[in-house]
Amino acid sequence: MTAPLRVLRLIGSPRGADSESLRLSQRVIEALAASQPLAVQDLDVNDLPHVDARYALALASPAAAMHAEPGDTQQRSAALIRQLDDTDVLLIATPMHNYTLPSALKAWVDHIMRIGVTFNGTAQGKVGLLRDRPVYVAIASGGLISGEQARQPDFLRPYLQAALATVGLRDMHFFCVEGTARGGSALEQARAVAQARIAAFFGPG
Ligand SMILES: Cc1cc2nc3c(=O)[nH]c(=O)nc-3n(C[C@H](O)[C@H](O)[C@H](O)COP(=O)(O)O)c2cc1C
Repeated sequence: MTAPLRVLRLIGSPRGADSESLRLSQRVIEALAASQPLAVQDLDVNDLPHVDARYALALASPAAAMHAEPGDTQQRSAALIRQLDDTDVLLIATPMHNYTLPSALKAWVDHIMRIGVTFNGTAQGKVGLLRDRPVYVAIASGGLISGEQARQPDFLRPYLQAALATVGLRDMHFFCVEGTARGGSALEQARAVAQARIAAFFGPG
């Protein structure tokens, strides 16, 4: 029997079951599940605290890093990195908040981007230490973020691309439901466009 594909889904929206990005990420899960068994683990990043002073010190000083204590940010960081490393596919469900990622998802990034652990600093720049694997990002935005009709900057996709590439994750694919604020039939249309892109990408299964 084939081992299930391990999928780690990060939930970035604070809106629970009403979240449009969560809904879109479910379409990605369905597309993946059409061709193989899945083991999906959900991590709601809204439950993560921000990093603290001890963690900042530990990143700056290897000696301080020796003194991790149970339950502190270093230990939480190590657990989150292990969880990421133990997955075959990373799926990120995220809204756009003020042109970029929600702060809860940034807090997760702050936990997993660790010099000497997930990337090394070299004379040529940062070199990622994690094994590459597919990363699917399901985005919901109230307005448009793609094409000629977009009237706002998009720091969400370039930021996630740069941050995750730093730790070695380069195989990234974005799916977007755009213009959710319009509601009604426009929202239905935006969902259908995103669903069609997912179907075209993953194929019939
Ligand atoms: C704090 C906050 C900031 C937002 N900033 C933007 C923004 O910059 N651009 C945009 O298009 N929509 C913005 N929105 C709207 C959300 O992106 C939109 O409602 C989206 O559908 C939320 O996704 P969710 O349903 O997964 O939470 C913002 C919403 C909130 C709550």
